[in-house]
Formats: sequence, structure tokens, C-alpha cells
Amino acid sequence: MSETHSTLLYGGVTALVVGLSIFGWRRSRGGRTYPPGPPAHPLLGNLKDIPTGGSEWLAYEQLGKRIGSDVIYMTALGSHLLVLNSFEAARDLLDKKGSLYSSRPRLVMIKEMMGWDWNLILMSYGKLFTAYRRVVQQEFSAPVVADRYRPVITREVHNMLGQLLRAPEGLVKHLKTMAGAVIMMVTYGHQVTSMDDEFVKLAEQVREHGEKTPGSNIVDIFPFMKYIPAWFPGAGFKREAMLKYRLAMEMRTAPYAEVMSRMAAGTAVPCMVSRLMQEDLPNENVDKGEFVKNCGGVVYSAGADTTVAALANFFLAMTLYPDVQARAQKELDEVITRDRLPTFEDRQRLPYLNNVVKESLRWKPVAPLAVPHSSIEDDEYRGGYIPKDTTVLPNIYAMLHDEAHYKNPNEFDPDRYLPTSDNPEGEPDPSRAAFGFGRRICPGRFFADDSLFLTISSALHVFSIKKPDGSKGVESVTWSSGLVSLPSPFPFAIVPRFAGAPDLLNVSEPV
Ligand code: HEM
Repeated sequence: MSETHSTLLYGGVTALVVGLSIFGWRRSRGGRTYPPGPPAHPLLGNLKDIPTGGSEWLAYEQLGKRIGSDVIYMTALGSHLLVLNSFEAARDLLDKKGSLYSSRPRLVMIKEMMGWDWNLILMSYGKLFTAYRRVVQQEFSAPVVADRYRPVITREVHNMLGQLLRAPEGLVKHLKTMAGAVIMMVTYGHQVTSMDDEFVKLAEQVREHGEKTPGSNIVDIFPFMKYIPAWFPGAGFKREAMLKYRLAMEMRTAPYAEVMSRMAAGTAVPCMVSRLMQEDLPNENVDKGEFVKNCGGVVYSAGADTTVAALANFFLAMTLYPDVQARAQKELDEVITRDRLPTFEDRQRLPYLNNVVKESLRWKPVAPLAVPHSSIEDDEYRGGYIPKDTTVLPNIYAMLHDEAHYKNPNEFDPDRYLPTSDNPEGEPDPSRAAFGFGRRICPGRFFADDSLFLTISSALHVFSIKKPDGSKGVESVTWSSGLVSLPSPFPFAIVPRFAGAPDLLNVSEPV
């Protein structure tokens, strides 16, 4: 999920609450018992309780503690918001009642005006959603990832290590190039060699333009405004939407068109798009070209930033927890030896390293509030009434920092997953929440997990990651708001761990 969506979605949730409050349907509270929530103002409802100033997941976590409930219901004159701060509540509603809670809220600007309704991430529940979901899920299932995508991941991780060796200060840029290159190759058979790649630049442009459009756009608040003409005073948002629409269309169309012309010339590199073009569609009511184009478009927008954010958090953690790093490297030295790089086949024999990967997903969750779900029917939970069209925010951050499950949750501690006499199963695997829930659970999770494992094991094998000499290290890192939460820049140094390490990196591959 790109920050395009991110900023928009969270602003959008707020905007939706405000918007519906003014123009949406209203539902009487008379006689109903709703789930626990802060007291509502008679006119504005809970508007003042909905956090907007950054780190919203922390504010929702604290609000839950203050009212003594893991489920928080809020309303703003007719619209409904339900925040789930515990894994148990998310499991009960989003997993067990997936048929009711798997839609997405209405977002006028991004879905209706910028035309992003083609994107599976934002799609409302229904037949079309099911058709897209089935295909994307199948293309990124565990066996497909293992068979088809591991060689691509391996090549691009090795390229990234070479780039890091030459220019360690460009860490985040190298991570972005790697994530973009893997995705462009598996989706379009297109080799990315740098961040200057035309398709990557286009995707970045879409993101930059998206960031300037908060979901709290005036049209999200007053949906009727989408019908006023573009020349009308105050209709700047309409012209903005047209530009964004064109950019996003180009991002979806240009790499797809390249595959089509290569297929026509008989030179296509096998990839998701070329394969899908040769298969029957799951839904005969949609145009095949459009369908395949949309399946391709969703992958970059969902997969690039998320992978980068998880890896940036890992590198940050390594500068802060040298003992964890030393233990992982000791294990790597015992299992891999210093004359080669780790492979997927080594994974089973690296239990400590696997727990470092888990901790990287838990410590600072990449998507702290997931993507908002929306309910399609009235429901009841623990005696509280949940109306149809309630926006449901799973607070993944709160779930993965819940002291009932994770001791000292702010510490990066891979040992927490080991069995103890008190807790024979160890603390729970964060994947049960980090990738979302129910019928909207991240379909890219196996792909993401493989990318994280190989990057983390390989980087730890060849490099020492530390605070720069003479630096006090991380003093204040902040995490961006939005669907994908990235850490702010932090000081680090990355140097080869042993004399032969640079020789293991194939620096002659295209970078
Ligand atoms: C560390 C990496 C990643 C994390 C933590 C992550 C997490 C998530 C989360 C929390 C959601 C929302 C689930 C919900 O609504 O309950 C999601 C949705 C999604 N993710 Fe990922 N993701 C990651 C990587 C990827 C990758 C690499 C892909 C590409 C194949 C991908 C594709 C998607 C798609 C298509 C959706 C939308 C699914 C839907 O709405 O039905 N993700 N992801």
C-alpha cells in the first residue's frame, strides 16, 4: 500500500465521519446499547475524540485504556466508527464474521473522483472484489512464491547488498529500488536498474501527488460537490482529481502496454500479466485487458512501501540492539559459514533469525491501523449494537503491544517467541495481526515474508549495522502517519562484517 492510499485513507476515515454526519443517513440512538465509547456531544458526537495529529494508533490505544475497553465505538451525528484494540475482538468480528466485515468505506475523492475504485485494496465487498481477490491471492500463494518468485527475490537482494557495500548512506533508496525491482519483475517481467526507471518514477509521482491530497478533501466532507463543474470557484479539487486520475491511469497502463507489445513480438519475459492474459477470467462480465491491468496495478501500490518500511524498522532496531545482532550473526556463522550467502533452504536451521524477522513485523507495525474495514449489515458484539456501514479500524499496533500477550512490548526481543515454563507456546506470532484480517488479509504476506527473511539474513551475514562512530545514535525517531508508517531518518553505519564479505556480493550484476 502506498502512502498515496495511506494519507488519504486515514484522513478519509475522519472525513467520512464528518461527511456522513452532515449529509448521510441518521440513525436514532434511542433504546439501543452500543459498544463502549467516550461520551458523545449531542450535536457533534465524538468528533473531538477522533485523533488526527499523528500516531493515531497510540491515541486509540490510550483512549481504550481510559474507557477500560478493547473495543471503542464512536459516532458523529449518524456515522459510526469502531476501533478494535485487541486481537480477540478483531478475530471475533473480522475473522469469524468475515462475510459481514469485509467491505471498505466510501472515499469520494480517491475512489470516485481519482478513479482508484479499480484497486483491490479499496474495493467494496462484492462479486468484482471476489474475482480480483481470487486472482491476486492465487498469484501470491505460498507455493507460487516459492516456485516462481524466489529466484527474483534472491537476485535483487544480492544486488541491493552490492549497492549497500558501495554506498551505505543510501540505505532507504536501495531498499526502495530492491522492492520496486522485485515487484516490477514478477508483475511485468520488467528489469528495474535504479530509482530512475521510468515506471518506478511514475509510481513515485503518483505517490507524491497522492500525499498532497488529504482524504479530508472538501469533497469527502461534502460529497455533493463532486457534481459541480471544474470551472466553478472553489472546484480546484476537481482539476486536481483529473490530474491524479491521469497519472494513476498511466502508472497502470504503461507497464501493461510494454508487456502487451513484448507478447506480440514474442519477447515477453514470463510474468503475472503475461500469464493472466493467457488464462480464462474468473468473471466474464469484465474486460480482460482492464482486469489484468488492474491486477498488475495493485501489486506495486500494496507491496513496495510496506516491504521498505518493515526493512527500515529492522535496520533501525539493529542500531539499537547490538546484542540481538551479535546472536543472529553467531547463528549465521554456525549454520551458513562465511564462504556463501544464506538461501531459503537455510531458513529451517535459523530459529533465532526467524524470530528477528517476526520481531521486525511486531516492534513497529508497518500498517498500524491496517486498512479500514466496513460492515455490510447490522450486527451485535458483546451486547453492543454495531450498525451497517460502520467503519472498523483494527488497531494492529495496540494488538502487537498488548501486555496481555507481549511482555515489555516496546523492547525488540526475539526471545519472546521461545517457550517458557509460564508460557509453553511462547508469545504469539505477530503475523496473526500484522497482515490484517479475515477476507481482507494481506494476499502478499508469503511474498513479503520471503523478502524479509532473505534481506534480513543476508544483510546480517555480511554487514555490521551500528550507530556511527562518535554518534549518540537514535535520539528521536518518529513514525509517519498513514496506512504505511515509515520511520524518520536515523543515524547508522553499515560496514562489512569480515574480510571476505565483499567477495560474497556479486557487484557486477545490474544495480
Ligand atoms: C511487510 C509487508 C506487508 C505488510 C505488513 C502488509 C500488511 C497488509 C495489511 C495490514 C493489509 C490490510 C488487511 C486488512 O484490510 O485487514 C494489507 C492488504 C493488502 N496487501 Fe499487504 N502487506 C505487506 C506486503 C504486501 C505485498 C508485498 C503485497 C503484494 C503482493 C501486498 C498486497 C496486499 C493487497 C493486494 C492488499 C489488499 C487486500 C484486500 O483489500 O483484499 N502486501 N497488507
